[in-house]
Amino acid sequence: MTVRKLGRGVAIVGAGMSRFGAFPGDTSRDLFVEAFREMRASVDKGFDPRDIEAIYVGNYSSDLFEGQGHIAPIMADWVGLTPRPATRVEDACASGGVALRQGIVAIASGLYDVVLVGGVEKMTNLPTERVTDTLATAGDVLYEIPAGFTFPGFYAAMATAYMARYGATPETLMRVGLKNHDNGALNEKAQFGATIRQVMDKRIAGAKAKGRPVPTWPDEMAFLHDDAANPVIAWPMRLFDCSPISDGAAVVLLVAEPLARSFTDSPIAIVGSGQASDSALHGRSSLTGIRAAQLAAEQAYTMAGVTPADVKVAEVHDCFTIAEILATEDLGFFAAGEGWRAAEEGLTARTGPRPVNTSGGLKSKGHPVGASGVGQVLEVWKQMRGIAGARQVGANVDLALTHNVGGTGQTCVVHIFERR
Ligand code: COA
Repeated sequence: MTVRKLGRGVAIVGAGMSRFGAFPGDTSRDLFVEAFREMRASVDKGFDPRDIEAIYVGNYSSDLFEGQGHIAPIMADWVGLTPRPATRVEDACASGGVALRQGIVAIASGLYDVVLVGGVEKMTNLPTERVTDTLATAGDVLYEIPAGFTFPGFYAAMATAYMARYGATPETLMRVGLKNHDNGALNEKAQFGATIRQVMDKRIAGAKAKGRPVPTWPDEMAFLHDDAANPVIAWPMRLFDCSPISDGAAVVLLVAEPLARSFTDSPIAIVGSGQASDSALHGRSSLTGIRAAQLAAEQAYTMAGVTPADVKVAEVHDCFTIAEILATEDLGFFAAGEGWRAAEEGLTARTGPRPVNTSGGLKSKGHPVGASGVGQVLEVWKQMRGIAGARQVGANVDLALTHNVGGTGQTCVVHIFERR
C-alpha cells in the first residue's frame, strides 16, 4: 500500500478528559463537557472556542447504551459549538482513534484549520449482560455471536492460541494486569486507581470490618489465582484480565501546524497515521497476531519516517491482558512470540526500557469504548509535555505512539506523535 505524507502538518494544542469510571448521575453530555472544559484550560495561550470549525466525535453505541442516537450535534450543542459541522465516527472500540484520524485528514486536506476531536461513551446505565450483548454487536452477528462468543470469549480464544503456540501462561497475563494496575494507581482519572496490593488490602480490611473470614493471600499472584477473588470470566481471562465497563470522555484540539504556536509553546505534532481493516475473527488464518494492527503500524511508521525503536512511550489497546502482548508484537516492539517474555521480564513497565500503558491502560484507567482512543492521546500528550506527574517516564519523551483496536481487530488505527 502506498503511504503518502499529510498534505500539511497537524498539531495537538490542547487536551482534556473527564474522570473514567461509573458515574450514575452523569450523562455523556456531562462527561463531554467536563473533558472540553479541561481541554480549554490546557491551551496555554488561550483561544476562542468559536474558532473551532468542525467536530468529530468517536462513539460506539450511545443508541444502545443510552437510547440516544445522533450524538455528535448534541455534544456540539453542549459545548456551545453549533452550528459547526458535527460528525459521529463509529468503529467499535477504535471509534476515538478513527475520529482523530478524521480530524487529521480534515486539516491536512486544507478544509479546516481548527478541529475538535472527542470520544465519549456512557456504558454503565445497562446491566453487565446487556453491555455484553451491546459490545457483541461489534463482532459478526451472523457467524460468531450465535456460536456463543462474547468479547471476553473472543480474546480468550486468542489467548489460548497464543499460549499454545508460544508457551505463555495465565501467569504471564496476570503480570500485564499487575503492571497496569501499578500505573493506574498513579492516575487520578483512572477507574481503578489502585495497585493489586491495595485492592487486596481493601478486601482484607472489608472482611475484618464485617467479621468475615479474613483472606490470607501471601502475595499478589496468590490473589490473582484465587477463584473467589479473581473469577474466571472466559478461560484463561479472569476478572483482572478484563477492562471494565466504563463511562468517560476525552477531547483534543487539533490545528494546522503553522498556527500551533499561536495556541501554545508546546504543540505536539502528529507525524504518522495508519489504519487498516480485517475480516471478523472467524475468518482469519491466525489468532496470534492482529493483521490490521501490523498494517496500520507499518503505515504510521512509514509516514513518520521512524522505526519501533524510536518510540519512547506507547499507549496500546489492552481491552484484555492478552491484547497488550499481541499489540507489543504487532507494533514491532518485540518479535512474534517474544512479547510474553518481555511482559514477564518487566520490559514494558513504567520504569522499563519500553514503557507501555503508563496511564494504567484500558485495564485500569477504564474503557469507555468510544472515548478510549482519544484518552490514549491524552496520556502521550502529557508524557511528551512532561506533565504526567508521578507516572512521568523521563524528560526525553520526544516520540510516542497510540494503538487503538476496534472489535477483535477488524479495525486498527495507529498514530505517532512528535515533540519538535
Ligand atoms: N477488573 C477488575 N475488577 C473489576 C472489573 C474489572 N474489569 N470489573 C468489575 N470489577 C470489580 C468491581 O469494581 C466490583 O468490585 P467490588 O465488589 O469491590 O465493588 C466487582 O468487580 C464486581 O463488579 P461488577 O460490575 O458486578 O462485575 P461484573 O461481573 O458485572 O463485570 C466483567 C465484570 C469482566 C464481566 C465486565 O467488567 C466486562 O464485561 N468487561 C469487559 C468489557 C468489554 O468487553 N469491553 C470491550 C472490550 S473489546
